[in-house]
Amino acid sequence: MGKKATTLANSVREIKEDLEQRFKGILETEYCLAKLTTYGVGGAAALFAEPQDQDDLELLRDTLAVSELPHLFLGRGSNLLISDRGFRGVVIRLGSGFNWWRSTETGAAAGGATPLPAFSRWCASGGLSGIEFAVGIPGSVGGAVRMNAGGHGVEICDVLERLTITDLNGSSEELLASEIEFSYRQSSIPPTAVVTSASFRLSAGDIDQIKRVMADIIRWRRKNQPGGAANAGSIFKNPDGDFAGRLIDAAGLKGLRIGSAEVSLKHGNFFLVHEGARASDVAALIGMVRKRVYETSGVLLEPEIRLVGEFEEWAEPET
Ligand code: EPU
Repeated sequence: MGKKATTLANSVREIKEDLEQRFKGILETEYCLAKLTTYGVGGAAALFAEPQDQDDLELLRDTLAVSELPHLFLGRGSNLLISDRGFRGVVIRLGSGFNWWRSTETGAAAGGATPLPAFSRWCASGGLSGIEFAVGIPGSVGGAVRMNAGGHGVEICDVLERLTITDLNGSSEELLASEIEFSYRQSSIPPTAVVTSASFRLSAGDIDQIKRVMADIIRWRRKNQPGGAANAGSIFKNPDGDFAGRLIDAAGLKGLRIGSAEVSLKHGNFFLVHEGARASDVAALIGMVRKRVYETSGVLLEPEIRLVGEFEEWAEPET
């Protein structure tokens, strides 16, 4: 083992030993991350921690504060690609105590780990309108807030009222949505903070009408996007004034395959994985498509999904 690896192993062991007696949630070393992502690929986390509730999360924060271990917050793993070599740090996923929802005076609130589609359907069943667009977004409430997920002309920030965050470098606090800057698939929430809950301003609507809107969204997605689990939604952000899917299609790249990874025939901005899936294949395909689109259109696409860990396959096209 090299010096760096030994230092990492030591600090992981120390953190685990320090927490073990008091932590209620899951705490595992060399934990396989593939099963926690929709792509089903990726190596292990040096340490995986799933705080069960706020006390657990704050305990973890205080313990990590003294280490220099890199961290990654994981939601429902629907928007990221984890390297086959894994993540040499601590991966934190909010546990069951963060999976809840309730109505509020102005709409509804949910815990950070709540699956967005389940929350959106629950709002519909109570006649709460405004979050129908989220029915087909397979992420967590917290992850969707952090990256301002959107679709069908609406973004999370359009309906977000308040949020609570816990910062690994600071405190836990409640914020107004207006205190955060949101833009297309981005927010100013610090990378060291995790969104533990969010509340949304929703309006009273007709239940049947809300359900019809949702059914239309689901139908549209089935028609226009590849279903199934083994993808991570849009790979690239849409560039100003154009669409990544259209550019990839126009470059004739649908069906392009590298190893186990393939550009969807249905939608150019979705990449699928097949048997024997490897993150390195997806990363190589991202690099290849980016290069070819740049050569044919002059547009340099930027990834929308997060690439986590080390990737040798990622090459910047020469501009
Ligand atoms: N198009 C093509 N060929 C293709 C795919 C698309 O020509 O292979 C054209 C379409 O005909 C359309 C345009 O490109 O004119 C845009 O395509 P689409 O309507 O499918 O929307 P999109 O911009 O690709 C965005 C979001 C999706 C979201 C949908 C629905 C981004 C990067 N993607 O897709 O979000 O579901 O709108 O609102 O903003 C995600 O973020 O993971 C995601 C799936």
